[in-house]
Amino acid sequence: MEEKVENYIKAGKAVIAAKRLARKLTKPGVPFLEIANKCEEEILKQGAGLSFPVNISLNEIAAHYSPPIGDKSIVPEKGLLKVDIGSHFKGYIADSAITINIDGDPLFQNYCNAAKAGLDAAIELFKPGTRLYELGEVIADAIIQRGLKPITNLGGHQLEQYDLHAGAFIPNYKQTTHTKVLKPGDAYACEPFATSGRGQVRNGKEIYIYRFARRKTKNMPYELQSYMNKIEKSFKHLPFSPRWIKRENLIPESKIERVINVFVRKRVLDQYNVLIERTNQPVSQFEHTIVLDNDGNTIVTTRDPNLE
Ligand code: CO
Repeated sequence: MEEKVENYIKAGKAVIAAKRLARKLTKPGVPFLEIANKCEEEILKQGAGLSFPVNISLNEIAAHYSPPIGDKSIVPEKGLLKVDIGSHFKGYIADSAITINIDGDPLFQNYCNAAKAGLDAAIELFKPGTRLYELGEVIADAIIQRGLKPITNLGGHQLEQYDLHAGAFIPNYKQTTHTKVLKPGDAYACEPFATSGRGQVRNGKEIYIYRFARRKTKNMPYELQSYMNKIEKSFKHLPFSPRWIKRENLIPESKIERVINVFVRKRVLDQYNVLIERTNQPVSQFEHTIVLDNDGNTIVTTRDPNLE
């Protein structure tokens, strides 16, 4: 268990460095691609691997916007920019998100404070014996107290080696079906989202994140089989961006889109739609990765106030 926690801490250090860089880089006019690429490079430079593409989700986009190849998005003058970053060390995953209030607007700051207060309240209860829905209850209370709503169809998730969404789910409200109890050795990503909208996300049309799901070779030309093998080998079952396929030269650039579409149709790949608040209202998010021990927890992605 000792060694497992060490691996989580190493993954956490890479994410902390990348979060610091994201804060530094985020200025009006800076391309999302620059932020994503540099943060991902930072994780690799720290000696960790990437556990999912850097998500840079603006305002009503709650999650899963990772700039695609050729993205034109730039940081606007104001708004809520959520940066969600993931690394792994030997498959042990650190997953953490911050929301950057671009111009410091006080109204937007309340969104940040609400999601952060929800996360802080949950961390207080992060010890063996707590039930997952009890975390949801304190998350929702903290957010509602600030005049906002939690997003109820998003939540935290258990982490296992090379598995980003491993079974157990931490609801962002008191959803009493989630009765599982926290126990020593468990690792979770806890991620409250706060909004002034209805408190639900819907699938947007855009898709920028994929994941290798299963091998299929029946009726598949050898060229496609070789691309499938390369994707499986490079990314295992962790989410990836088509940018990475280009970066690692796994598929000729002119074919990337077409090959991905074939693999999605054949269910070789899962896809993750951009998630948008149902009533298009702004969303904030804070997230930490937390590993439980016998009497408490280790936050492997740091609560340094300068960073959050
Ligand atoms: Co995350």
